[in-house]
Amino acid sequence: MSLFRIEGLVKRFGGLLATDHVNLTVERGEVHALIGPNGAGKTTLVNLITGLLKADAGRILLDEKDITGFKDHQRVAAGMSRCFQVTRVFAKETVHDNLMLAAQAHAGSSLRFMAPRATERGLVERAVALADRVGLGSERHRIAGTLPHGAQRALDVALALAAEPKLLLLDEPMAGMGPDESARMVDLIESLRESMAILLIEHDMDAVFRLADRLTVLVQGRVLMSGTADEVRGHPDVQAVYLGTEAEGHA
Ligand SMILES: Nc1ncnc2c1ncn2[C@@H]1O[C@H](COP(=O)(O)OP(=O)(O)O)[C@@H](O)[C@H]1O
Ligand SMILES: [Mg+2]
Repeated sequence: MSLFRIEGLVKRFGGLLATDHVNLTVERGEVHALIGPNGAGKTTLVNLITGLLKADAGRILLDEKDITGFKDHQRVAAGMSRCFQVTRVFAKETVHDNLMLAAQAHAGSSLRFMAPRATERGLVERAVALADRVGLGSERHRIAGTLPHGAQRALDVALALAAEPKLLLLDEPMAGMGPDESARMVDLIESLRESMAILLIEHDMDAVFRLADRLTVLVQGRVLMSGTADEVRGHPDVQAVYLGTEAEGHA
């Protein structure tokens, strides 16, 4: 059974069918990429998945649990975490303090009953481990806002990891990155796949094809196809509507 499943999901904006009966599965240990031209409905679908938007019809299941009616924070608790843009990073706080806050938010009620010092020590250990996990171990005492862009995105990933997700949603993690930073982010995502499934929305097709086990191609709100990288690359319709024409442009 799939870790994550979307069944017949529908979202309308007035007369526009932005999400048209979408089905999608993400398997355990899978990196699944969601691609499609501008306006295809990728962001809408991510917002439906995370609970920012409410679906008009259809179901969303995580680990066989129906989370369709869950609020966004309930979905995080159920095991789904999303990387936001850098805005979630507290720019004036250190890397360590950012991670402490995220660890604290996740610990929530489970640590409330522990002794305060044990709680503090547990959170510090967690923050240190999270920084190491994304390659920021030597930057822990830097003010987050002074980090280079790529490192800030890595910090954003670490903040999402604080929730110990089963499914991690990455919304354009390579946006605005140069080749070196992109390569580091690819390595980071590669290192995460052992412990969680990943749904990746990304315009950088080199990165997508390097990382994704399977891809789902969205066009005008509909799933054009789901398949392996080779299947997607070789599909004539995909080449016509997306890959052969112009990929969504980010300079
Ligand atoms: N809040 C909204 N209200 C009305 N239309 C919207 C809204 N959000 C997105 N849309 C429309 O839904 C379609 C899909 O948009 P979007 O999900 O942003 O696509 P993508 O992320 O693939 O570029 C577009 O036609 C867009 O104009
Ligand atoms: Mg979008």
